[in-house]
Amino acid sequence: MILPIYVYGQPVLRKVAEDIAPDYPNLKELIENMFETMDHAEGVGLAAPQIGLPIRVVVINLDVLSEDLPEYKDFRKVYINAHILEVGGETVSMDEGCLSLPGIHESVKRGDKIRVKYLDENLEEHEEVVEGYLARVMQHEFDHLEGKMFIDHLSPLRKQMIKGKLNAMLKGKAHCTYKVKTVKK
Ligand code: NI
Repeated sequence: MILPIYVYGQPVLRKVAEDIAPDYPNLKELIENMFETMDHAEGVGLAAPQIGLPIRVVVINLDVLSEDLPEYKDFRKVYINAHILEVGGETVSMDEGCLSLPGIHESVKRGDKIRVKYLDENLEEHEEVVEGYLARVMQHEFDHLEGKMFIDHLSPLRKQMIKGKLNAMLKGKAHCTYKVKTVKK
């Protein structure tokens, strides 16, 4: 089932999300719905707060990029109770967008190497060092679990430049091809 994506201004996007228990109701169905919602909106990642749930569940699909980055062929993964333990490596700037911030794309600086822990779809625990594009997407998505969005990383000047678009979203205006839930709806 395709779910509406919560847009900037929705309080759930600013909450610190919580770990879930292994018996969280209908978890499998929730994950399927998140994949379907992400695919429909043509995103590479989606965090549960973006569908209104303040829990630490993230889906990532990098298969869509595998024409340019063959190492991500068939890469579709869910990360449950996901946490970043450490950010390091080199600081790299890259353009980012977000399904909860339609129409905004800005360059964001992030480290290119991280250490993360999470549970996979079988609720098995992993601790990994991740680099490159996946480290970028994970930081963006896992930020959502801390109540952060990529615009929080921008300079005051860049923030000023997108203020009009943000204010429009707060008034319920969001132009995109997928179903959204703004504060006014
Ligand atoms: Ni996002």
